[in-house]
Amino acid sequence: MLADQSDHQVAVPREGYDFVVVSNRLPVDRDVDENGDSTWRRSPGGLVSALAPVMAKHDGAWVGWHGAPDETPEPFDHDVFHLVPVGLSELEVGRYYEGFSNATLWPLYHDVIAPPEFHRTWWYAYRRVNERFARMAAETAAPEATVWVQDYQLQLVPRMLRKLRPDVTIGFFNHIPFPPTEIYSQLPWRKAVLEGLTGADLIGFQRPGDAQNFQRCVRKFLGVRFTNGAAEFTEATLADAAASSAPGRAASDREDGRTSWTVHAAAYPISIDVEAIRELASNPATQKRAREIRRELGDPETVYLGVDRLDYTKGILHRLKAYGELLEDEKLSVENSALIQVASPSRERVESYIQLREQVEGIVGRINGQFDTMANTAVRYLHHGYPFEEMVALYMAADVMLVTALRDGMNLVAKEYVAAKQDRSGTLVLSEFTGAAEQLKQAILVNPHDIDGLKEAMLHARDMPGSEAKKRMSSMRRQVLTHDVVDWSQRFLEDLASYGGQSAGGDTNDRDTQ
Ligand code: F6P
Repeated sequence: MLADQSDHQVAVPREGYDFVVVSNRLPVDRDVDENGDSTWRRSPGGLVSALAPVMAKHDGAWVGWHGAPDETPEPFDHDVFHLVPVGLSELEVGRYYEGFSNATLWPLYHDVIAPPEFHRTWWYAYRRVNERFARMAAETAAPEATVWVQDYQLQLVPRMLRKLRPDVTIGFFNHIPFPPTEIYSQLPWRKAVLEGLTGADLIGFQRPGDAQNFQRCVRKFLGVRFTNGAAEFTEATLADAAASSAPGRAASDREDGRTSWTVHAAAYPISIDVEAIRELASNPATQKRAREIRRELGDPETVYLGVDRLDYTKGILHRLKAYGELLEDEKLSVENSALIQVASPSRERVESYIQLREQVEGIVGRINGQFDTMANTAVRYLHHGYPFEEMVALYMAADVMLVTALRDGMNLVAKEYVAAKQDRSGTLVLSEFTGAAEQLKQAILVNPHDIDGLKEAMLHARDMPGSEAKKRMSSMRRQVLTHDVVDWSQRFLEDLASYGGQSAGGDTNDRDTQ
């Protein structure tokens, strides 16, 4: 039974954790064997790798959902993590996760590529679940601990936590874009969400443009102005905002014990676990697998690769359309080139994802039906998740990586491809609507809506002289190798420690702890 939580302050636990990460999902996945016994495995991904050393060094805990409805496992330890599961009912998975997080906020924050849906029942569930996460964090954090809240699913947690535990330092990082005011304005709960976020001492975004969008929204809907990335909040300014002419629903009360505080908002572009990729790419078994992949494709001259979650933000349809037209125009042939499209299943019960799958599979079927021969397939469409070793082998096998997202907070696939190309071969076609485009400037940048432009870029990537391709790849590699996810977390946590005046986990300069 998942009880609703009240928002009174909690007793500060004497035996709490000095560093607490709060994210929608815990950093572990569960494997269940045929006897029904379950074991946990560390989830792949940069955030988990980046925070593992911080967890190990400081007394760290991670609060999150373990991925299954209607059960709440007891807190447990797994490798360097102390894990505190937050339970969600089946109804809350539908309303908080699939509904408000992924059918309201996700499309709204991604340029309304799909129409966002606004439902009060979803909002109530979002608020209730955010309260639960905040309470769990409050009960887990030691006195004056640092709490780092992750992502759009938990935007109300900073302020809720501040009310429960005024002594802790709170950071928030938004992994997805933050929309311009004109789009954000559509959200019926726009004030309450901004008030939730501004409970943090530091709010990090992927791009400077996201931080600016956020600051403009705060100015417009809360009436508080940021100067040089910082804004002063008092109870009076928030009360004024609630009464101001900008309509919207405000959070109901503000008895958090603080009468004034400074909120910082800035860009901290996230990166990848470069060391893990370096190790895999140097491993003869991965190198052998990369050669095998090319052989299995019939050794074409050019291997194009797309790797995405099956999400409408990723521009998979645009990429397939461009590829199909290039075959049609006889600029490519199934003998000379192959496209591998890995589309890992995601949010499969959300309507827009169900529709996208049908569209993608329809177009793949049409292209293959038209162009396949007995010996060759035009598009290898793989609707699976793969182990990371296989992903690195795919990156190594590919001549051209296609990242054609219509909007993407960062796009770590682009950075992973660059990190995997130790021999500096390969070219990257990269959408200008990704955060990564601001750092990987030597990629072939494209507007994926411009199908002719995309087609030209795909041919240019294939035909680029080796010396130029190597020069570009070297320069992108320098960027990625010198700005990995460990640097990202250190930079954020050091700034948070200085703003919060607490000892955050940011003093982990000894990277050999990894
Ligand atoms: O990019 C935002 C994000 O939440 C990532 O952290 C995550 O890998 C991805 O979207 C998919 O998330 P989920 O499967 O939890 O909806």
